[in-house]
Amino acid sequence: MVPSTVVYVAAVPISVIVALGLLRKWRSRKWASCVSNTCLRGKTFLITGANSGIGYETAKALVRRKGRVIFACRDIGKAKEAIALIRKEQPLGGEMIPMQLDLSSFESIENFVEVVKAGFHKIDVLINNAGVVVPLNQDLKTKEGFEIHFGVNHLGHFYLTNLLMDLLKRATPSRIVVVSSTLHERGNINFDDLNIRKEVELAKKTGGGSRHNPGYSNSKLMNAYFARALACNLRNTGIDVNLVCPGFCATNLFRYSIKWYHYIFMAPILIAFMKTAKQGSETVVFCATDHSIEGKTGKFYRDCAIYNSKYNFDKDVETKLWNVSEELVKARKPL
Ligand SMILES: NC(=O)c1ccc[n+]([C@@H]2O[C@H](COP(=O)([O-])OP(=O)(O)OC[C@H]3O[C@@H](n4cnc5c(N)ncnc54)[C@H](OP(=O)(O)O)[C@@H]3O)[C@@H](O)[C@H]2O)c1
Repeated sequence: MVPSTVVYVAAVPISVIVALGLLRKWRSRKWASCVSNTCLRGKTFLITGANSGIGYETAKALVRRKGRVIFACRDIGKAKEAIALIRKEQPLGGEMIPMQLDLSSFESIENFVEVVKAGFHKIDVLINNAGVVVPLNQDLKTKEGFEIHFGVNHLGHFYLTNLLMDLLKRATPSRIVVVSSTLHERGNINFDDLNIRKEVELAKKTGGGSRHNPGYSNSKLMNAYFARALACNLRNTGIDVNLVCPGFCATNLFRYSIKWYHYIFMAPILIAFMKTAKQGSETVVFCATDHSIEGKTGKFYRDCAIYNSKYNFDKDVETKLWNVSEELVKARKPL
């Protein structure tokens, strides 16, 4: 006979796990999937950061539907590994091309675009997915000296997208999907300090800074402003531009900011609320391929439906951010 105390002690964790499982199931009702399944043969997709997380799952879904996918990755070895994994699962899927792209270097972006232009006549869908989250006290910068979130998540994609515009125009109707986050609602754009020196210095003094990373949130707000400006500039050209928030997903994004032991304390929240990378990729795939949104542009999507941002967007800030970004790319250094 099992002693009753053992039964009681075992019942507590089991009940907690069951409750978390039920909570997850209840929440996941809203985590929509992309139902479109049309063949994508003949279409070329370019995904930044396709070797990991949401980018990887997006690539896998497109390859399954016979799309040709360019894996634009910082580490070409990781791109090849990701391709090999997908090929093993989907021997009959679409073509996959590994290419080196470091969004933290303008030179790398220019070299990458040159290689793409030499090999491809058109790009049907550009997916600006790559992103970083780095604790501010590390004071990481891009090759040109921009704060890492501003430089990689915003400026790098700003420059890349503009350089690829000819190829997108040749493929119309074509699409640009910008992966942002609802954290853009916590962002702030201070044109006097785009490299957030004040926050970085504070984080260095306190050894970490707040749990909220303003560099990341600001960059996701810049993604939103960039996509809105682009959608406006490209209206009636046949290039749709839309934003996506994939939701809170289990990926490598927090690798520099979350230590292994944090996962133990956070386990209940993660189990109940965190999507898998595949679940996070569904809205990206939807925005990249679904016919029902053809011609719809400048929208924010979450869970395969329009998301109404709580952020109060300002047209003057949108225009100024575009102009300043152009100036900074031209100057190739913080002004
Ligand atoms: N996960 C979430 O909860 C969540 C929520 C909202 C939005 N998002 C957004 O989703 C997107 C994808 O993130 P994820 O969650 O899938 O994270 P992830 O697994 O860390 O993937 C990020 C990708 O970006 C690449 N990358 C980073 N720096 C780069 C650079 N300088 N040049 C080129 N590529 C670079 C990474 O390459 P390496 O592997 O070589 O580092 C990786 O392939 C990001 O834009 C993120 O902001 C994520």
